[in-house]
Amino acid sequence: MTEVVVSRSGPILELRLDRAAKKNALTFAMYEALTSALLQARSDAGVRVALISGNGETFCAGNDIADFMTPRSDFGAAPPSRFIEALVAFDKPLIAAVHGPAVGIGATMLLHCDLVYASTTARLRMPFVSLGLVPEAGSSLLLPRRVGDAVAAEILLLGAWVDAGRALELRLVNSVFPSATELIAFARARASDLAASPVQALRATRALLKGDPSAVRARIAEEALAFAKSLTSAEAKEAFAAFLERRAPDFSKLV
Ligand code: COA
Repeated sequence: MTEVVVSRSGPILELRLDRAAKKNALTFAMYEALTSALLQARSDAGVRVALISGNGETFCAGNDIADFMTPRSDFGAAPPSRFIEALVAFDKPLIAAVHGPAVGIGATMLLHCDLVYASTTARLRMPFVSLGLVPEAGSSLLLPRRVGDAVAAEILLLGAWVDAGRALELRLVNSVFPSATELIAFARARASDLAASPVQALRATRALLKGDPSAVRARIAEEALAFAKSLTSAEAKEAFAAFLERRAPDFSKLV
């Protein structure tokens, strides 16, 4: 069963996360579906814009925590890493419509989107430290660039939630809408506007706005080394077990 709904409306490709019972937490199969849709969209001249959203009351609860416990021999080739590279390499406008919580990769992927629209229920969190992990998807570089070092420390060290109002203030999102219906309607309207613009000028402008991706790729590679190491740490094992057992983690005996 595919838990990413991929649909086309003329030049607009829509990717909808569809695993509401698990808060749209991403499984390897979902990463693969997202990656292959982005790769196909890149090479299909008929696709001019992509729009990502989530079904239900959560945009995305991040990586599936049970999957974190599966050992990976080649981290760089694993589905999450391939998805992150597909985001960096995507050369067409990418819009996100965020309704409800966006956690972990659900939040960090937004740093790669050109336009991010949210509903009032949106809230962002990057709880890597509390899971015994480190930031990914270039967020340790892109987040402080966007919000400054002090706020990035609140988000990445303390794992603070950022509600929709604060996300707007920090320019992590472009606008906030009162309902999911208004949110998706607005996001689709902006996608249509972009799809109607002169494609070469749009893509060239976007490339200029993004700049040289080599620093982002280098940081992603650095993060990936630390992330792969942290995944098997005693801290991470305790954090994952605590999440799955619905209890508070106890890091007090770990040094
Ligand atoms: N991986 C696996 N399962 C997840 C999940 C994740 N990242 N996030 C949520 N789920 C599951 C829960 O285990 C629960 O499953 P169950 O009904 O079989 O017990 C179900 O989704 C509902 O989650 P719940 O926490 O009860 O929903 P909520 O509405 O109270 O909270 C969130 C929603 C997104 C705020 C909360 O689920 C959350 O913080 N999830 C973890 C996010 C996270 O740490 N992600 C990894 C980042 S690196």
